[in-house]
Amino acid sequence: MAEHKKVRKAVFPVAGLGTRFLPATKAVPKEMLTVVDKPIIQYVVDEALEAGIEHFVFVTGRNKHIIEDYFDIHFELEQTLRERSKKAEMTLLAGQLPKAGTVSFTRQQEPLGLGHAVWCAREIIGNEPFALLLPDMIMKSDTKGCMKGMIDLYAQSGGNIVAVEECAPDQAHKYGIVGVGDAIGDGFHITDMVEKPAKGTAPSNFFINGRYILQPEVFKILETQERGAGNEIQLTDGMLKLLKDQAFAGYHFQGTTYDCGAKDGFILANVAFALERADIRPTVEEGFKALVKTLG
Ligand code: G1P
Repeated sequence: MAEHKKVRKAVFPVAGLGTRFLPATKAVPKEMLTVVDKPIIQYVVDEALEAGIEHFVFVTGRNKHIIEDYFDIHFELEQTLRERSKKAEMTLLAGQLPKAGTVSFTRQQEPLGLGHAVWCAREIIGNEPFALLLPDMIMKSDTKGCMKGMIDLYAQSGGNIVAVEECAPDQAHKYGIVGVGDAIGDGFHITDMVEKPAKGTAPSNFFINGRYILQPEVFKILETQERGAGNEIQLTDGMLKLLKDQAFAGYHFQGTTYDCGAKDGFILANVAFALERADIRPTVEEGFKALVKTLG
């Protein structure tokens, strides 16, 4: 099997304004809203860590500095916990922190779209393949995480990989949709990509779920990418151009994805992850069952 260049770095676009979560997001970035007791961004960084990612690149914007503080040591807090012998809390904080020097921040100065946000990371990524994880989507899986599965497929296929899942046909217009070719590993060759297709025109029901492994040639394309759906510079349009020269595989993710960019997805994620926690499961389950009964 051919050796493919290792995927060492991951990009997290966190510049979005979070207008769907106002008023909370007036002062708190949507990526810092908590699912049970961890910010959304921590779930996504944990998924990247599990996949062996070594360097974490955040594309931020104004009002996002608390994300930077979150991935730093809080000296006074740790000192106080140490003095009070709060060992469990200290372990929690230590487990959350990437190693010194492995986190970078750059800013997307204008909200021009996902393609533009990714392009803003080009100098930090350099000439190597990279992972891209959209923090709106958090994933639950009984086996390996979505990005770990993609890295495993990448070991066989190389090239570019986009994680996909099936959606109801009437939901396809909300996402990037791929065209399906021959099978490869836990997925298939991608033949086409369309961002937010008009109703009835989607090439399949497989939507792009927010996880990517991309080759650095995408940056050159994004530099001149025209605006697409929603008058934004779309990553999907850039990837479609790259598809002319490079292979793309679709990794068929088998777990559950929660769209935490939407209120309903965020609430469901909280319930689903709370039910996995031994300390609160009994009371959450009891309360949840009682609530469901009231629905009749
Ligand atoms: C972005 C991508 C889209 C993808 C979606 C997944 O869209 O452009 O291809 O399906 O994320 O969440 P957005 O949600 O930013 O509109």
